[in-house]
Amino acid sequence: MASTFPTDKTRAFGKLILFGEHFVVYKVPALVGAVSAYTDCKLEYLDGPGLEVVDNRPAVPLYKEQKHDEGMEAINLTLNHLGVDTKQNGIKLTFGGDLCCASGIGASAAQVVSLARAVNIAESRCLSEDEINAAGYEGEKGYHGTPSGIDNTAATFGGLLRFQRTDGAPIFEKKSLPSPIRIVYASTGITASTTKVVGDVRAKKESDEAWFSNLLEQYKVLVEKGQKAVENGDLSTLGKLMDQNHALLQELTVSCKELDDLVLAARSAGAIGAKMSGTGRGGLMIALTPTEEVQDAVASALEALAPQVWKTTFA
Ligand code: MEV
Repeated sequence: MASTFPTDKTRAFGKLILFGEHFVVYKVPALVGAVSAYTDCKLEYLDGPGLEVVDNRPAVPLYKEQKHDEGMEAINLTLNHLGVDTKQNGIKLTFGGDLCCASGIGASAAQVVSLARAVNIAESRCLSEDEINAAGYEGEKGYHGTPSGIDNTAATFGGLLRFQRTDGAPIFEKKSLPSPIRIVYASTGITASTTKVVGDVRAKKESDEAWFSNLLEQYKVLVEKGQKAVENGDLSTLGKLMDQNHALLQELTVSCKELDDLVLAARSAGAIGAKMSGTGRGGLMIALTPTEEVQDAVASALEALAPQVWKTTFA
């Protein structure tokens, strides 16, 4: 079993949020693009009970140490949801793939979705993609109590998605693009706690509902315009809207100096839009680059400031 396990069928993607981190928790639409980099999972049975986890995923320094406990909680929540009892039948999980784990890229969601796929294969379950996604959502609760579900949905389905949390199952729709969107993304090197940042936003909202509602209303207008710009391939408008989304996230207090510096550097190097992406207070920023030349120039400029820089394309 071990040597023939089809690890390639357990792939789950990382993601970058174009519009809507944090606001999406409050059931408004967001736009998210999966990256091609993935996490995979090999599942082997042990002779006795127990759970062994080998984590071979590439990661930014300290990510794995800082996320270890939440990661184990997420794995256990996913296994419980799927009814896998390691006290009866022990398993060894080996996580790998080419997704570099960094705050903001959806590494936790990719991990639990790949785990759900591995269980599905090992136990010949025939789970649907929606059921895999639902298992990923349960696992995401290990990383923070109130996930919107955007990360696990992107990890499961890939592509560029409009996503909206609801009181029931999320609503999401794949978007097809008239032309590819070139992106550069860069890590601040700081690993943020999604639990803490989402919790802080909730506390600020509860202490000043009018302030939050004003930001939310501005965001709702912006995301609809963003979707139209994506659908029309209007990169110039898309970039301006990403800049505006970054400003709203600054007001929401989830950006930080390191992210703001990267955003400014990307714009100076020719990006036509740039914003933080994901949880914030560290983590990642993304920049929209209209051509391959600009993409290269922005990546080079960011490499001087950021510990990790990547190029990707939403197609
Ligand atoms: C994290 O990638 C995005 C957040 O909006 C949290 C969530 O949606 O669950 C910060």
